[in-house]
Formats: sequence, structure tokens, C-alpha cells
Amino acid sequence: MKIGERENFGSKLGVVLAAAGSAVGLGNIWRFPIETGQNGGAAFILLYIICIIVLGMPIMLSEFLIGRHTHANTAGAYRMLAPRTQWKWVGRLGVFTGFMILSYYSVVAGWTAEYAVLAASNAFEGKTIEDFPRIFGEFASNPWKPVLWLIAFLVLTHVVIVRGVNSGIEKFSKILMPLLFIIVVILVICSVTLPGASKGVEFLIKPDFSKIDSSVVLSAMGQAFFSLSLGMGCLCTYASYFGKDTNLAKTVLNVCVIDTFVALMAGFIIFPASFSAGYALGPEDIGPSLIFITLPNVFQQAFAGAPVLAYIFSVMFYILLVVAALTSTISMHEVATIYLSEEFSMSRRKAATIITSCCIVLGIFCSLSFGVLNGFRMWDMTIFDLFDFASSNILLPVGGMFISLFAGWHLDKQLFRDEITNGGIIRAPYFRVLLFILKYVAPLAICCVILNQFGVLF
Ligand code: TRP
Repeated sequence: MKIGERENFGSKLGVVLAAAGSAVGLGNIWRFPIETGQNGGAAFILLYIICIIVLGMPIMLSEFLIGRHTHANTAGAYRMLAPRTQWKWVGRLGVFTGFMILSYYSVVAGWTAEYAVLAASNAFEGKTIEDFPRIFGEFASNPWKPVLWLIAFLVLTHVVIVRGVNSGIEKFSKILMPLLFIIVVILVICSVTLPGASKGVEFLIKPDFSKIDSSVVLSAMGQAFFSLSLGMGCLCTYASYFGKDTNLAKTVLNVCVIDTFVALMAGFIIFPASFSAGYALGPEDIGPSLIFITLPNVFQQAFAGAPVLAYIFSVMFYILLVVAALTSTISMHEVATIYLSEEFSMSRRKAATIITSCCIVLGIFCSLSFGVLNGFRMWDMTIFDLFDFASSNILLPVGGMFISLFAGWHLDKQLFRDEITNGGIIRAPYFRVLLFILKYVAPLAICCVILNQFGVLF
């Protein structure tokens, strides 16, 4: 493809699967169960769903319409809609945020690949609860192995990106997403039918409202942002490949339903199996340990009498994670690649190579912060933790707040209406409510999250 020429997604299904592929990732399967476990189960899930509906959907629609209207990379999009203003910095901030997330996200994505291989080579058989923390600790602190996986994962992402939008992103999403659904459904069925699994199911569906406090609300909101890929122009970039006839509101609904479905299903894989194996997930199981330490053990215990099932269950689970992570890393890479390519008139290949190389370098630092660089701390955080904290807890909410302010206050109302109705063809009875949320509710709510991060509010 020549510089300046732009592709579009070829079909409606391709649009939904690519956007859902971005949204569904480690955030759903790794982070969601951890947050749910820490924040009281069903009550947290309820709040999370409210956040998806009230904040996630309107902001996603805003990103979609900004991207589809301009057909440009995220910085270019703001420049076109608000020429000679500083709004372009919202786009640039997004590129920077995506770049940071991609660097540390790829580290965890690399771990999932290692665990898929470990599971496939039957390395977990006969191991006990004492063995798994050691296996994970030795692997994560090894100076070479995780780095090699990180590089492999980024190169794989790179290959898809270089192939372009149609034959790369769209084609892979169409294969990988259905595969992911099939694996998820099979795993849920296996998990909920284990003996004693019903307690885990109960934990997920019986809300205990006494568990809700301000920090639970804030966690639910943060999780909604991360999981929906919101706040950094990722979905804005994907929407720049949407055709004129794409129904934006319907796409928002589809993506949010799919993303929430996969997150809930991840809960239904992990908790019933954990309860069945006699685990109560406590604060000590937080973070990387949940899926890399607790779960291999859960699989061994839960299927103690049937090692073949334990084998199949764990192999499928880690393959599922690799697939989910890959479709997300592709989306983050695309934001930065198309930005470089369009703003600095570079070929797609050259832009992608620069991004991949820089991410490998940053990713290596993140990866080594579990081993040789563990002692290097800033504000008491390792490099990995710092990247995670700065991007997810600060930059994404800040980005989301500016996106809703831009859509609510700056965008021309007629342009806004035309985009969501496709020029008057589709009805949009929710228009006023949507504007109210974007103007007032979302920015204020997000402001609370950020102030809370700095301990100003609560
Ligand atoms: N949403 C993805 C997940 O759940 C991660 C992701 C992809 C992301 N693109 C993003 C997060 C953009 C924030 C912003 O794993």
C-alpha cells in the first residue's frame, strides 16, 4: 500500500470482531477476575456493568465517531476536527499511552506464551502448591526467557500489522475471535460442572452490597476503561477504517456485550474451579500470581483424578490467553504505527519497525524489573509497576475525560448527530442523554477517579 492510501475493514463482521478483539484481552481474563476477587464478587460485577453502560458506551461512541468522521490517525483526527487548537495533544497523548501499555502488556503476553508451552509439554503434571510460585518466580526473574518471549510476541504482532488492515487485522480477528469464544465456552462448562463449583458460581451471582465502598466503585470504573480499550484513541483508530454504512451505536453495543461476556465467562472459569479445589482467592493471590501460580495448581487439583482433563484444561486456557492478548497488542500497535506513518509520511513497514523496536527496548526494561532490575524503583515502584500505574490509572482516565469533553463541548452537534445516525438513516432517540453524559457525568466521574489516585478525595 502506498503512503497516504487508506484501507477499510471489508465487512460488518470484520468491524465488530476487530474492535472486540482489541477490547477482549488480558484485561478480561487476567485483570477482571483479580479485581472481582479483591472487590467482593457479584457486587463489583454489578458496578462494573453500570460503568460500562453509563461511561464506557458513550465514550466508545465518541471515539468511534471521531475516528470514522476523519478517517485519520488519532492525532490527525483531532487536528482535522479542531484545527489550530491544542486538542491534537489528546491524540498524541493517546499514542504515547498506547506505546507504554504495549511495552508492559507484551511482557505479560510473553508469559502467557511460555505457560502455553509449559502446559502443552505437560510440565504441570504432579506439581503441588509449593511448586508453582517457584516455577513462576524462576521464570519471571530469568534474564533471558521472558525477554525472548516478549520479543517473539512483539514480532508476531509486527507481522500482522505489516500485512495491513484487511489481510492483517481483519483476517486474524475473524479467525482468532471465534476460536476464543469456543475455548471460553468449553472451559466454562468444564469449570462449573466440577464438584463443589457451585460456591464459586454463588460468589459471582449473589451480590453482597455491604462490600461496596468508594474504592470498589473506583476500581470498577478503572477496569471498565482498561477492558474496553478506552481513553487512548485505540477505538478511534479502528473506527477510521469503518465504512460509511457502519452503524456506530450498534457496534458499540456489540463490542460492549462481547467484552463483558468474555470477562464474566473468565470469572466463571476461574472461581468455580478455584472453589472446587478448596481455594478462597485472597489478597495474596493478586496480580500475576492469579493465572500463573494459582491456576495451574487449580487445574491439577480440580482434575486430580483425571490428568488428561487437567492437561487439556490448562493447555486450552493458556492458548486462549495468547489469542486474546494478541488481538489486543495488534490494536495498540496499530495506533502508534498509523500515527507515525501518516503524520511523518513513512511507509507502514518502516513505521511498524520503529514502534516494534522501541517497544522491545522498553519491554525489556519492564521484563527485567522482575529480575535483575528489581531493585531499581521510582516512587517505590518497579519499572513494570510504574508503566502499569502511569498508563492505566492516570493516562487512560485523563484521555477518556478529554475525549468526553471534546465530544460533549467542542464537536459540532450536527456533525455528531449525522455521524451516529449515518446522515439521518438510523434513529438516535438517546441523543440528549448521551450529550448530557458526555458533557457532565463522564468528565466529573473520571475526575473523581484521578483525584482519588492522588489521595485528594477519599
Ligand atoms: N482492552 C484490552 C484488554 O482488555 C487491552 C487494550 C487494548 C487496551 N487496547 C487498549 C487498554 C487501549 C487500554 C487502551 O486486555
